[in-house]
Amino acid sequence: MLLETSRLLLRPFVPSDFESLFAVIGDPVTMQFYPSAFDKQSTLDWIERNARRYEEDGSGLCAVVLKSSGEMIGDCGPVWQEVEGTRELEIGYHIRRDYWNCGYATEGARAAMAYAFEKFPVARLISLIRPENLPSRRVAEKNDLCIDREIDWKGIRHFVYAISRDEFAHRTSHRSQQP
Ligand SMILES: CC(C)(COP(=O)(O)OP(=O)(O)OC[C@H]1O[C@@H](n2cnc3c(N)ncnc32)[C@H](O)[C@@H]1OP(=O)(O)O)[C@@H](O)C(=O)NCCC(=O)NCCS
Repeated sequence: MLLETSRLLLRPFVPSDFESLFAVIGDPVTMQFYPSAFDKQSTLDWIERNARRYEEDGSGLCAVVLKSSGEMIGDCGPVWQEVEGTRELEIGYHIRRDYWNCGYATEGARAAMAYAFEKFPVARLISLIRPENLPSRRVAEKNDLCIDREIDWKGIRHFVYAISRDEFAHRTSHRSQQP
């Protein structure tokens, strides 16, 4: 996977991304909607788990790199999830806190969505988001995902945000026609 947007590159994680990734998912504020922040060992495991996903699933969370500086500032990408007995493709994202609200998650997620619809014959993509995670909900909504239902996901209430293939194609073509 190698995706390019106007400001970002999304590329597979490599072991040397460890320090940069730890600055993202090791931050307790960034991970406030998760059971806990990642420690160093679980960050290493995270990189290995995603390397396995690229091999086995053909997708996974990618490193988000700023084209302007080469700095790795987060992760974003499609990940297969088992949701109430159905295998669904989720678009996930985490951005380092000092880069929040610059539009990076929205931009990266949109590229990941285009890649996922092109590569996999899925009818829709989802994002699993806790109701209180307003920034993440806003990213989903800016990318035209809507709430499909509310579920218990790993013991915590989540909205299943979703967008169909047809809706994504319609919105993308509408955007490209705008001046
Ligand atoms: C969710 C996250 C990835 C968003 O990254 P980002 O690069 O800041 O996202 P964007 O800049 O593309 O968009 C953020 C939007 O949320 C809005 N926002 C931020 N804080 C908000 C709040 N408290 N309430 C409502 N909206 C908020 C921003 O204003 C922006 O919307 P706008 O463009 O209409 O102004 C980032 O906050 C993050 O890493 N959070 C922790 C990890 C996480 O929760 N990941 C998602 C798991 S489901």
